[in-house]
Amino acid sequence: MSDISNKFSYPLLGIDHIDRQHATFFNMLDSIAQNGSKENDTIKKLEDYLIFHFRIEEDLFKNTDYPDVDVHISQHLYFTQQVEKFRIESNFNGKFLDEKVLEFMKKWFLNHILHTDMQYKDYVDTSMEDKQAI
Ligand SMILES: [Fe+2]
Ligand SMILES: [Fe+2]
Repeated sequence: MSDISNKFSYPLLGIDHIDRQHATFFNMLDSIAQNGSKENDTIKKLEDYLIFHFRIEEDLFKNTDYPDVDVHISQHLYFTQQVEKFRIESNFNGKFLDEKVLEFMKKWFLNHILHTDMQYKDYVDTSMEDKQAI
């Protein structure tokens, strides 16, 4: 399988629903970049989606032999807190998420996939998902 996917060239883990969630997050960011994010609702949706995704991932790797569970979860927590901070700030001053913030989020998420998510994929049993896909 190719490990390069869409226009952001982010790598695929080979776990279909996780790869789709990563794509959705990037698409949401892209849409905010194009349409603006004055609506606090939009940022809240992004934040909620992120929390949903992190929970799914943590459920996947928590009961495996993956050794970096705590570090991984603390990275999720850090980013969730950052995005929450951006939402509160944006709500407070009524401003759009500016380019710098969007760029930070995109880079952080990409980096996290590359260097952290990539580490758990080999510990996760995807045989059930493969069977469901047939
Ligand atoms: Fe992820
Ligand atoms: Fe992760």
